[in-house]
Amino acid sequence: MLLQVCLAAILAVTVTAESVSHQQGQSHLFECDYPISADTYVINWYKDGTSVMNYLSGGEPAFTEDLDDRTDVQFVNNRNLEITNLRVSDEGEYYCSVIEIGAGGQSGDGTRYQLVVFVPPTITLMGGPYEVEVGEMMMSTCRANSHPPSNFTWTLPNGNVTQGAVLEITNMTQAEIGTYMCTADNGYGTDYESVDITMTGYAAPPMTTESAPPVGGSDVMRATGLPVILLYIASLLLPVVIS
Ligand SMILES: *[C@@H]1O[C@H](CO)[C@@H](O)[C@H](O)[C@H]1NC(C)=O
Ligand SMILES: *[C@@H]1O[C@H](CO)[C@@H](O)[C@H](O)[C@H]1NC(C)=O
Ligand SMILES: *[C@@H]1O[C@H](CO)[C@@H](O)[C@H](O)[C@H]1NC(C)=O
Repeated sequence: MLLQVCLAAILAVTVTAESVSHQQGQSHLFECDYPISADTYVINWYKDGTSVMNYLSGGEPAFTEDLDDRTDVQFVNNRNLEITNLRVSDEGEYYCSVIEIGAGGQSGDGTRYQLVVFVPPTITLMGGPYEVEVGEMMMSTCRANSHPPSNFTWTLPNGNVTQGAVLEITNMTQAEIGTYMCTADNGYGTDYESVDITMTGYAAPPMTTESAPPVGGSDVMRATGLPVILLYIASLLLPVVIS
């Protein structure tokens, strides 16, 4: 018995709201499920504790505050609230409050709804340069139009994953060229965007999910290429120096 009273008290204090989520631009019908038995009654719809709609039975609904001047809100069946073109700013807790007028009239609230209006991420990459030289620094920042905000990860050409929106390589080596992929995830959607980092004279290895050895041969050619060219230039200069 005592336990039941305690449970009832806990339930009454922690009024939990029903979660509702929609993508921006979609519609939602909030139902006022408080049972109305009187002929004359007042309904208020509240958003985050502020009345946004007021209705006296037989009259016209008056939309106020956040719902003032909105062409995309309707009062349906003299009790329910519908928003047909949801905006991120519509997020909040909604509930109806009913006051019955006349003898024996009751008052009470309907179910509370916690509305989330989400925007799946769309990535924009900024930064560079994406064609680099050995020893150069490059940076790319991943941004996303997203609500709620996204978490970002970068997948490196060797398959390693780093957390965070910023990719920064301070001292480019040939082993680091390749395809880098940014992932944005906000729990309601995911977007991917890749950037190819190239190095003059080198081909990027294909993206792998495991560590791959550097492309064979290139280092050797690079290492022997320079002395050969110097030797060639020296041989051209030699006759001039002698004469
Ligand atoms: C990839 O990540 C592992 C584990 O964090 C690390 O030991 C390794 O050095 C990384 N490889 C490269 C090429 O950065
Ligand atoms: C960049 O890397 C090269 C090769 O590993 C090294 O010789 C050089 O000192 C590094 N430069 C800086 C600024 O760290
Ligand atoms: C984003 O990262 C934070 C901190 O690691 C984590 O609490 C949250 O759940 C993540 N959100 C998504 C959508 O992955």
